[in-house]
Amino acid sequence: MTITITPLDDSFAVQVSGIQPSGAVRAEDIAAMRKALTAHGVVVIRGQKFDDREHIEFSRHFGELEIHTQRAWLLPDMPEILALNNRGERGTKPIMNGGSYWHSDVSYKAMPPMGSLLHAIEIPPEGGDTLYSNMCEAYDALDDETKTLIDGRRAIHSYAHRYQAQAAGDPERPQLTAEQLAEIPAVGHPMVRTHPETGRKALFVNEGFTTGIEGMDDAEARALLDRLFAHCVDPRFVYRHRWQVDDLVFWDNRMTQHSATSFDQRFKRNMHRTTVAGDVPA
Ligand code: OGA
Ligand code: MN
Repeated sequence: MTITITPLDDSFAVQVSGIQPSGAVRAEDIAAMRKALTAHGVVVIRGQKFDDREHIEFSRHFGELEIHTQRAWLLPDMPEILALNNRGERGTKPIMNGGSYWHSDVSYKAMPPMGSLLHAIEIPPEGGDTLYSNMCEAYDALDDETKTLIDGRRAIHSYAHRYQAQAAGDPERPQLTAEQLAEIPAVGHPMVRTHPETGRKALFVNEGFTTGIEGMDDAEARALLDRLFAHCVDPRFVYRHRWQVDDLVFWDNRMTQHSATSFDQRFKRNMHRTTVAGDVPA
């Protein structure tokens, strides 16, 4: 099958045709996917049928898969799959407001994942789009003074405070245990990271998990972070993904961030995610 790459809505995101996540996947398909991912940041495969097992196998071609700290959201027999399902399924806890803030997945760990692959199983008739923003473009567009200010600086990322904020809007969200909290101490990451595969610089702070800046007092850090968060979501860097059933969206967490949008909770929305391990941001 010939592989074609088409921009979506004149944005940075692309659709890849000619690759299917099911069955025997060719080495050249994986190479093409990886190349498209690192070049564009968000890659969509559309209109292909595949199951959870195939989703996992396809994802594994790109690296080891991570298991999320909140085990209550993982499929019992396939913990590589996080079920972002507002009804819950097979014993998983429902997630009412998952990812409804700008973030790069799991940036609160010392080794954040390189990418995530999200499969639309069931979608509401309207709403529930996902927004993606390109952090290489956002970095490039900063003024020189800001670049100088943040280059070489490190920011603090933490899951606990975000988790509590989300719990306030979702009575179903289980408490994190002491053991889970111990898995996720706050970490420091460079505010600007260099993409290990393309060498491009990307802004690496996000509203979801970034709580401060090392060596900067709180008020100054807050003002700078708020300014950067607003910059990150400038519409010129943003792609809005309108889901279709069976879409598989693969995004590069090293150079993009994303946010869920709201939808009427009378409708069911069920998305399955795998998460591919990455490296220490540098
Ligand atoms: C995720 C996520 C957003 C959405 O799966 O990591 O943030 O719209 N999803 O479901
Ligand atoms: Mn996410």
